[in-house]
Amino acid sequence: MKTALVTGGAHRIGQQICRTLHQADFNLIIHYNASKTAAQALADEFNLTRDSSAIIIQAELSNIEDINQLYQSINQLDVLVNNASVFYPTPIDSINNTDYQKIMNTNLMGPLFLSTTLSDKLSKTQGCIINIVDIHGDRPLRNHSIYNISKAAIAMMTKTLAKEFAPNIRVNGVSPGSILWPENDAQLSHNQKQSMLNKIALNKQGSASDIANTVLFLAQSNYITGQIIAVDGGRSLNQ
Ligand SMILES: NC(=O)c1ccc[n+]([C@@H]2O[C@H](COP(=O)([O-])OP(=O)(O)OC[C@H]3O[C@@H](n4cnc5c(N)ncnc54)[C@H](OP(=O)(O)O)[C@@H]3O)[C@@H](O)[C@H]2O)c1
Repeated sequence: MKTALVTGGAHRIGQQICRTLHQADFNLIIHYNASKTAAQALADEFNLTRDSSAIIIQAELSNIEDINQLYQSINQLDVLVNNASVFYPTPIDSINNTDYQKIMNTNLMGPLFLSTTLSDKLSKTQGCIINIVDIHGDRPLRNHSIYNISKAAIAMMTKTLAKEFAPNIRVNGVSPGSILWPENDAQLSHNQKQSMLNKIALNKQGSASDIANTVLFLAQSNYITGQIIAVDGGRSLNQ
């Protein structure tokens, strides 16, 4: 039985990645930061379907101490999915160090140190790392400079670690286009949504399952490393 750790696994895309991997017979370590109730409910659901197939682990991923503690509580690991991230606008004229630290530490430092810290466990299983990137790590989204930079960096981290960790650990990425509208601070107006949809060649948003199925594909593709697959409905064709 293989074990996968999915960061930010309680909601939205992360939750669907957990569901898809669990259906494919992986045991799950569901990481959460604030969403304990949702993470526990998901683990309970999985454990009802298959006994002892899911646990939850809390960590603030911008905190190295939390990453070290998370390491201590994991035995076997086959797949690490770096999914957790923060996304909100940082207009260039009011850019500040607080937002820089929050976004870069969560979206880059956390995945980097999680990957290096867990690399000994992943090596033992000839495992893999899958980073959830963003097409805006390649072509910038206006008003989101720090987020764009963090995702460009995790794209390079994917290739760098693929080289460093070969031949023992494969490292790949999935780069979503528009999948689920952002919530809270990053909400978009009707016109902003329409303008985004107009640029997608397939004329619609993707689904969390589109991302999760690609994660599963990469987890099972033993001869692919250092690649980032865009799952964006052709959005990159129109930028
Ligand atoms: N949604 C899209 O259409 C889209 C498009 C392009 C790329 N992506 C990428 O796909 C991935 C998933 O997207 P999403 O929209 O589903 O994500 P999301 O809902 O914005 O965030 C996922 C989870 O990240 C966790 N998180 C945030 N800050 C954290 C921190 N400091 N430490 C630990 N965990 C933290 C949160 O966990 P808790 O709730 O437990 O606090 C949150 O539930 C992200 O990497 C995102 O950049 C998404």
